[in-house]
Formats: sequence, C-alpha cells, structure tokens
Amino acid sequence: MKSLLHRSAVAALILLLCPLAPSLAPLSERTPQAASTRTALSDPGTEKKIEELLRKMTLEEKVGQLVQYSAGQPTGPGTGRTDYEDMIRKGEVGALFNITTARQVNAFQHLAVEQSRLHIPLLFGLDVIHGFKTEFPVPLALASSWNLELVEQSARVAAREASASGIRWTFSPMVDIARDARWGRMAEGSGEDPYLGMAMARAYVRGYQGTRLDAPDSIAACAKHFVGYGAAEGGRDYNSTEISEHTLRQFYLPPFHAAIDEGAATIMSAFNSLNGVPASANPFTLTQILRREWGFQGIVDGDYTALAELIAHGIANDGVTAARKAFLAGVDMDMVSSLYHDHLVQLVHSGDVPESAIDEAVHRVLRVKFALGLFEHPFTEETKEAGAMLHPDSIVLARTAAEQSFVLLKNAKVATSPLLPLSATTKTLALIGPLADDRANMLGSWAAQGRPANVSTLRAALAARVGAQNVHYAKGSEILGGSDTQLAEAVKAAEQSDIAILALGENAPEMTGEAAARAFLGLPGRQEELLEKVVATGKPVVLLIFSGRPLTLPWAFEHVPAVMAAWFPGMQAGPALVRTLFGEANPSGRLVVSWPRSVGQEPLYYNALNTGRPAGKIDLARPPRNGLEKYVSRYIDEQNAPQFPFGFGLSYTAFRYGNLHIDKMQMSAKTLNEGLQVGEYKQNAVLSAGADITNTGTSAGVETVQCYLRLQGTSVAQPVRVLSKFQRITLAPGETRKVTFLLGPDAFAIWNDQQKFAVEPAKVTLWIAPDSSQGVQATLEITK
Ligand code: NOJ
Repeated sequence: MKSLLHRSAVAALILLLCPLAPSLAPLSERTPQAASTRTALSDPGTEKKIEELLRKMTLEEKVGQLVQYSAGQPTGPGTGRTDYEDMIRKGEVGALFNITTARQVNAFQHLAVEQSRLHIPLLFGLDVIHGFKTEFPVPLALASSWNLELVEQSARVAAREASASGIRWTFSPMVDIARDARWGRMAEGSGEDPYLGMAMARAYVRGYQGTRLDAPDSIAACAKHFVGYGAAEGGRDYNSTEISEHTLRQFYLPPFHAAIDEGAATIMSAFNSLNGVPASANPFTLTQILRREWGFQGIVDGDYTALAELIAHGIANDGVTAARKAFLAGVDMDMVSSLYHDHLVQLVHSGDVPESAIDEAVHRVLRVKFALGLFEHPFTEETKEAGAMLHPDSIVLARTAAEQSFVLLKNAKVATSPLLPLSATTKTLALIGPLADDRANMLGSWAAQGRPANVSTLRAALAARVGAQNVHYAKGSEILGGSDTQLAEAVKAAEQSDIAILALGENAPEMTGEAAARAFLGLPGRQEELLEKVVATGKPVVLLIFSGRPLTLPWAFEHVPAVMAAWFPGMQAGPALVRTLFGEANPSGRLVVSWPRSVGQEPLYYNALNTGRPAGKIDLARPPRNGLEKYVSRYIDEQNAPQFPFGFGLSYTAFRYGNLHIDKMQMSAKTLNEGLQVGEYKQNAVLSAGADITNTGTSAGVETVQCYLRLQGTSVAQPVRVLSKFQRITLAPGETRKVTFLLGPDAFAIWNDQQKFAVEPAKVTLWIAPDSSQGVQATLEITK
C-alpha cells in the first residue's frame, strides 16, 4: 500500500536530485486557489518491491514494460502490431490503449497476469479527454467556465466511469498553450494563458487521480504534449516550433510544471520539433528540465509513432537510431512505433544504451503500476461496469458545465431591451442550422464512449420547452455544402416566426481536434450565406456558434443582435442551451483565447510584448496621417485588437468595477527575492489588491474578476498584461462585494536575462478587470 509522503519531504528529495534547479519555479506555485493535494507516486516499501521485481526480469522482459500498442480503434496511423496476445504472454508488452470495455481489458489482463512469467499487469490507457460515457463540453469550453471545481468534478466523473471499464490511464489533460486558432487542437486545451492553464492542469489532475491513485476509481493523468506542440508554425498540426528558452520557461512550461507538482503520474512527449530537436528526443526538456529540475518520477510516454517519426524529422536514418535517441533523451515508453521492441535489447548488447538506464525507465513504469494498485487489483468487476455510467448527478454536472462554458459575445437591444434572454412570451421560434438537431457533433472531437443516442439536441430541448408546434425547424444547409432549397426553407421558417435561432459552426471530428488545422476560420460551406439570408428577413436573430475555436465572423458581429459561443457542449447541449436562452441560466463563461477578427491576425494572444513601435488607435478608414501613425507595428488593412479580448464574456446582468485598493505602492526586489528563495511566497502575500464589484443589473450573475500585471523596466521585455489571479463570484442584483487578491513574490518573478526566475526592479501596473482590455488600474514600484 502506498503511504502519503509529506510534501516538504518530496521537495527536499527533488532539491537533492537537482542541484541545478534554477526553475524550481515560483511559477508552479502561482495557483493558490488550487492548493496541491499531491501524493507521492511511491514510498520506500514499494521502491524496494520494484527493485526486487527488476532483479528477476530478463532484459527482454524489461524492454517489454516500455512497449505500448493500440489494441482497439486506432487514433493514428496503424496500430504498431496485432499479435499482442502472444507478446503479452512473453512479457513483451507493458501497456495497451484504445480498448474500451471491462471485458476486453480483463481478457488481456488475464493473459498478462496469469500467463506471463512474472505476472506483471498491463496498464490500459485511453483518450478520456472531456468525459468517458457522460460527455462534457470540450476542454476549451470547460476552461471558459473559469471554474476549477467544476473542471475537477468533470474529471472525477470521467475517472469513475473510465475506471469502471478498466481504463486506469487517461491521455489528458492537454496543457499546451494555444495562441493560434488555426490549430485544431486548441479545442482540447485551456487556451492561451499560462496562469489559467496551470490552474486548469491542477484541477484535471486532482479530478482524475483523486486523493489516492490506488483507489479503484482513480486514473493516472497524462499531461501532454511536452512541449511546445501548441506553437506549431502557421497553426498547422505537427509542424515545427521555435520557442526561446525565455518563452518556454515563462509561457509553455508552467502548465506542465503545475500538473507535475499536482502529482500527474505521466507525461506525453510531443510530435513537434522544438528549436530543431524533436520533442520526443529532446534531452533538454525531457531530462534536464523534467527530471533534473522538476524531479519528475513518473512515465514519459512518446506520442503515437512519435519515435518512428524521428526518421521523418531528419535526426535518424533508421529505427535503431531513432530508438536510441528517444530513449537516451528520456522517453520511457514507445507508443505504437514498436521501435523499443525491435531495437532496445540490441542497443543494450551493443553498449549504446546502458542497461542501468533501461532499469530506471522500467522502474518508473512499475512505479506507476504499483501506485495505481494494479498488482493487487489487476482486474475490473464487469458486473459493476454498466452501473457506473451516466449517473443522474453526472448528467446534471454535464448540463451545468455546458451552461457555464457558454460565452455570450453580443447581446444588443432589439426595440427596447437586449434580445437575450428570450421572453417567456415568445410565441414562435425558427430553429435553423446544421447543428440544431445534430447529436454526434455535440460530443466534440474526443467522444471516448460518449454516444450520440445519449445527446439531447437543441431542437429536442426547445420543442420540449415551447412545444414542437411552435418551433419552425429548417436545417438550412449542411455543415459543408447545402442546397438552394434548404436555404429557401430556412428563410421561410424565419418569416413564419417571431425570432430565429441559428445553430451554425464546425464539424467537430473533422474540423477540430487532431489533424484539423484550418487556413480559413469562417463558417464552413454555405452557412455564412444562410446566416445573411435569414438576417435579411428582418427577424431578430440569435446566433449560436458551435466550434472548437473562435471563428472569424465580422459580418455576424456587426449585423446579428445576439451571438453566443456554444463550443461543443457535450451530451446536455440542448437543455443547457435552452435554459440559457430563456434566462434560467445566466451566461458566465469568459474567453480563454483572444477572438480574432481575421485569420491574418494569428497567432493572436493578449499577453504579447509591446514592441518598440506599438500602434495607438488604428483608423482603417483612412491612410496613416504621419510617420507616427504609419511606422508602427500594425496592419494596413486590419485592427491589431481582437474581435473580443481574452477574459471577455457578457452576462444578462452588468457589473461595475470601482474603488481599487492596494495596501502598498512600493516593494523591494531584494525582499521579494528572499521570499522566493525560502518559498515564503506560498504562505505570505506581499501585496493585497482589490476592488469593489457591483452587480448593476436586475438579475443575479457570476462575474470572473481578473487581476493583471505589467512589469516595465525589467531585463527581459514583459507582456503588456499578464493574468496573475482571478476569482469567480456570484452577486445578487444591486449587491457590491469587495474582492481582494493576495499576491506573493512569485507574481512578480520573471525568467530573466540571467536565466533565472527572479524579481527585478520595475514599474508595475496592476489592473482589476472584467477582461484583458480594461479595468481599474494603479501603478506601483518595485525598487532595488
Ligand atoms: C495522438 C495524439 O497526439 C495524442 O494526444 C493522443 O493521446 C494519442 N494520439 C493517443 O490516441
């Protein structure tokens, strides 16, 4: 049995293991609202058992623990091999994935536990990304809730259901920072911000792994894709990345560090090359940072055939070299490539790979298997499987999650009042669009065991709410394509109704997620035409955008009175949308990615540098008047500003920010650095800043109050704003609440020109704000 190791002991161990440790970073601690419940992966007793087992293993059996194949519906090219059964008996396989039922899992597990020489259980993995059977909104949507408890609970439900089917390992959370909406995988993560990304990473890990990893309903998390995958050039999936060490340390690495600090048992190395070195053969990130600096004790799993792809990358001309490079760089397990199976034994015999390194990698794999309790309980109770799925509470949670993920982008007045929420007296509604009555797409791009049959669509929910006879439904077009007749039917439906609701957007599995980069970000097919035709009827239009990324819809944002990002909301799409449309749920989602006006603005992110020639207000209606307007960092044909900024989202009520209060206007860098060194920042706030937030409207609402910082005068240029804290509060109409943020020295630390996290003297601007483009602000100073 695993015992809980005290955190300070773990920290001491890490320090011991990594004398360099320049980035035992304050960054991983910047999420006090998500305090770590981390349990150690192992304990001395288990470590001893692992050593004993290792001594009994042949080299072939050791290598077997590092081999993983897909044994179900493949999620990439090929499966590796198919003769698993025999290989398992011989102890040549350590893990399988893409199997989805307890019966299949047990069948394979029986072979491993009963017929292999050393009876070592297999580890079964799956992409359980936003739910297993109970399907939640896609991760980008979940993150838009800014609700950490909700995300944690959704991961807990996923863990309960997946483990009931024998899956004890999920390839989630994806914690890649995503700054470019062309990248289809933006849908799978928590957006562009490292601080929010860290908080979300922790929430997922807590949810999946629970308080004990060996509890039968806990599953091991896998933070992926290490690292830089989200920076794919041009947003094209699998493309190369060039990321400076500064940007890597300050933006891309922190969510991984947070996931590990929270106890994530595994990490997946990425497909992309990073500064010329493929991430799945990169000793700097996999060994120096991950193991030496962060003391990571779990498994590094190479992504699907990423090891074989080292040949295509151009750093290996054969499988044996690819296997050697990946292994020596720090990849423990080979997903699908079969290169470890084919070459590692030979590499040890030739002296190219020390057997001690194999032992260490196997040790890590066994450590995770022990931590999960697989040696004691390798099998899954098949009779309990069905009963674990789709609990009524889980379904309510899925609905709540969807409601909290919607981001209301526009809600203009029609006649005297905002179009949304719809009045209860609305008599007839036109419901138009290819996503209005589509079950499969609501499930997003990684549906795991989510089934279209369990999805409630907008059409079904609307009919249930107002009566089918009052809903004039017309598909209007297909997602891609569509006929003139369909368009004409839609126009007719709108003409017959008081209001038209349009459900438009992307096809989830084909246009979002993996291998789904887009060069154009408008509505696909004839949907823009459909939208414009329906708006031309003069009926008030509510546009619901179903997508895994922001879409560039300048015409819609100008001409459609009400627009809401619905993302892919999961199985409870219909009820959540209807409750929101009618005001029973008040929208509270906030964007976690900057919403572009045009594709040409990408990559677009709020925490960008100012440049040496920042542009002021841009008037596109006329040419620049003088050199100061012309020779600045701008486009001649587009705004710099996004359509909607990071952190933005409307509510049916309104909030006022005022009375900014800060407890001191000066701090010394020396004192802050001392606090960083001894880790005092964990307990001791150095600055208290807050504001009074008032609900000025007539309905209760949730506001996500955001605290941003800007540092000027530092050794390395810092972004125009950086999110440093946030709080989600519920306010009754007329209520005012004082919201206070306690900032530690870590909030002011940067990765500086000495390659260290440190606080430097600086001018500090602090905002308490409803989004990244506004807020109440003050200036303070960090002196020497
Ligand atoms: C490749 C994807 O990049 C990764 O995210 C996923 O977990 C694996 N395939 C396994 O399906």
